[in-house]
Amino acid sequence: MKRIEEELKKVKNEVLDCKKCSLYKERVKNRFYPVVGEGNHQAKIMFVGEAPGLQEAKTGRPFCGAAGKVLDELLDSVGIKRKEVYIANLLKCRPPENRDPQPEETKNCSPYLERQIEIIKPRVICLLGRHSMNFLMEKFGLENQIEGISKIHGRLFESKNLSLNITVIPFYHPAVAIYNPNMKKVLEEDFKILKTIIK
Ligand code: URA
Ligand code: SF4
Repeated sequence: MKRIEEELKKVKNEVLDCKKCSLYKERVKNRFYPVVGEGNHQAKIMFVGEAPGLQEAKTGRPFCGAAGKVLDELLDSVGIKRKEVYIANLLKCRPPENRDPQPEETKNCSPYLERQIEIIKPRVICLLGRHSMNFLMEKFGLENQIEGISKIHGRLFESKNLSLNITVIPFYHPAVAIYNPNMKKVLEEDFKILKTIIK
C-alpha cells in the first residue's frame, strides 16, 4: 500500500519536472499544469484518455471539462463512482489546439503511463479513443487485433504482457458524444460491459 503511494508520487514528481518533449514549452508558456492522473490507487478499472484539454491543463485534473462531464455521466449510468477508478492520459501535457499526439510525444511520455499501469495493476483498462487504443493494444501484444475503433469499440481483449493479466476494452472517446446524442447512446451501451466486471 505504502509502496504504491510512493511509486506513484515518484512518477508524479518526474512528470511535474518533465521537459522531455516540446509540449513542456507550451505548458510553461501558458502556465498550464501537466495532468498526471488521479483516482483510486487500488483501482480494478483504469481509464486512459488521450491528452489534457484546456480545462484539464488549467487545473491539472483529468477529464474535468466537457468530455469529463460525459465520462461522469457514463460512469453514473453503470453505477461506478469516479473515486473507485483511476483516470490517466497517454500524454500528460496539453497539445496546442488539442491536436493529435505526435509520435515523438507519445514515445517520450508513454513510459509514465506504463509505470502507472504497472504500479496500480488494474484488471481492466478502458481505452478512450483511438490513440490510447492503438498505443496500449500494441503495448499489450494485441497489435494483430487492432482495427478501426468503429469496429472494435466495446469489445474485450485479453493480454498477458507487462507480466499482468489485463483485459483492455476500446471505447469511443467521450468527447465524440459532447454534441452527438447518438454517440452517447453507443457509449452507454458499451459501458454496460463494465457492470459485469465490477461484480
Ligand atoms: N480528453 C482526454 O483525452 N483527456 C482528458 O483528460 C480530457 C479530455
Ligand atoms: Fe514530458 Fe509528457 Fe509533458 Fe512531454 S507531454 S513534457 S514527455 S510529461
